[in-house]
Amino acid sequence: MGERVIAIDGPAGSGKSTVAQAVARELGVAYLDTGAMYRSVTHVALERGIAVTDGEGLAALARDLEIQVGQRVVVDGVDVSEAVRAPAVNGAVSTVAAHPGVRAELVRRQRMWGATHQGGVMEGRDIGTVVFPDARLKVFLTAGEGERARRRRDAADVEQRDRLDSTRPVSPLKAADDAIVIDTTELAVDEVVARILERL
Ligand code: CDP
Repeated sequence: MGERVIAIDGPAGSGKSTVAQAVARELGVAYLDTGAMYRSVTHVALERGIAVTDGEGLAALARDLEIQVGQRVVVDGVDVSEAVRAPAVNGAVSTVAAHPGVRAELVRRQRMWGATHQGGVMEGRDIGTVVFPDARLKVFLTAGEGERARRRRDAADVEQRDRLDSTRPVSPLKAADDAIVIDTTELAVDEVVARILERL
């Protein structure tokens, strides 16, 4: 299924979401924000008092939750679109996402999503390296640190998250060997999108 997937990975503030949505719109294909899935598990864990260090408990929670990611993020029938962006979630999500059991379950669902939609644009940290290593096109977006902080309100958290995401043993944030790397620091969204469409 990977041959119909466009993988867009990169750190927070690199412009992934905006660019991925625009590419999906241009191509008329489905779009999935995989970060919203890790955020959903984290939100419910915080709500239920499951420790962010409890890998087993978090993996069980991930397997148990019904997570729908689309225009809105809906978990077990509850709209959590705003809740998953809360500062508490920003602060905990990278720790939750580092547990192999959590990743195994969410990666499994992401592959299912790819099969159900017959491909599409998927945005995350490990789409090109782990979820769909045979993706049709792999894009890794970067941006200078100052610019990434400017684009985000939670600048301190972003730095910490990038450090955790890049150094975790399982599926660390990094560009796939065959990814095209685009530095978006001085590029407008349209220019980034145009470069990706050109590559296709
Ligand atoms: O939108 P932003 O770049 O701030 O982050 P996100 O895409 O919503 O992802 C939130 C967190 O989920 C990341 O910092 C990672 O810890 C984790 N994540 C991941 O591990 N793998 C993915 N494919 C997507 C997100």
